[in-house]
Amino acid sequence: MSLLDKVNNKNIPQHVAIIMDGNGRWAKARDLERSEGHREGIETIEKVVDACTQANVKYLTIYAFSVENWLRPEDEVNTLMDLLVYFITKETPKLLKNGIRLQTIGETERLPERTRNALYKCMEETASGEKLTLVVALSYSSRWELTKAAKDIAADVKNGVLDGNSITEETINNYLATKNMPDVDLLIRTGGEIRISNFMLWQASYAELYFTDTYWPDFDEECLYEAILYFQKKERRFGKISEQLEKENQ
Ligand code: FPP
Repeated sequence: MSLLDKVNNKNIPQHVAIIMDGNGRWAKARDLERSEGHREGIETIEKVVDACTQANVKYLTIYAFSVENWLRPEDEVNTLMDLLVYFITKETPKLLKNGIRLQTIGETERLPERTRNALYKCMEETASGEKLTLVVALSYSSRWELTKAAKDIAADVKNGVLDGNSITEETINNYLATKNMPDVDLLIRTGGEIRISNFMLWQASYAELYFTDTYWPDFDEECLYEAILYFQKKERRFGKISEQLEKENQ
């Protein structure tokens, strides 16, 4: 029996975001190169994408490469960039078949040309997918995103495109890389660390947070369903009290 059978399909998180951590430690524990951990991590992405389509999740954002990850040894950065090309090339037919649209958030201009080309091609080809949007965060960090939004807003106020006094939360949303995407409902981090690491700070303001010690390469479909079941046990009050929610749901 799969845990999917226990999932309430009337309360599915619309947007799941994942900090995929623990590839290096997974490899080290097996006396393997770190790159083997990343390679295995790709298999997990495939499983989790499948599980999200099964559960009817609409947006899945994966933190594949942070702005800070540029500081890793050059070899490892190159491996990750190559793996991304490998992942996209391998996955595109499956994404097309399953109605999955690929999108990206982050400073994609900083990616090497081979990676950017593969990414843009796949985004173009899968643009009409409606079952699930797979968002790959690449050279992404929340502080980069919020700084960019502040600069863009300032420029538009200066140009007269935007009235500074009428800025609302919705205005800010529209200047983020995640424009037109729903807020994150469930944020998962694998690998045992209890931190957010500069990821979706604005979008995950009201997300349920799920941390697991499982290293990313060991995470699988059932682990995702377990996280969804955790989400479904939570009462999401958005600042209100339980009694108000009960009344609203009557
Ligand atoms: C964290 O493991 C993971 C990453 C830095 C990136 C996630 C990358 C993948 C899952 C594989 C590549 C996939 C794509 C789409 C490029 P870590 O190296 O920080 O692990 P550690 O904390 O155990 O060292």
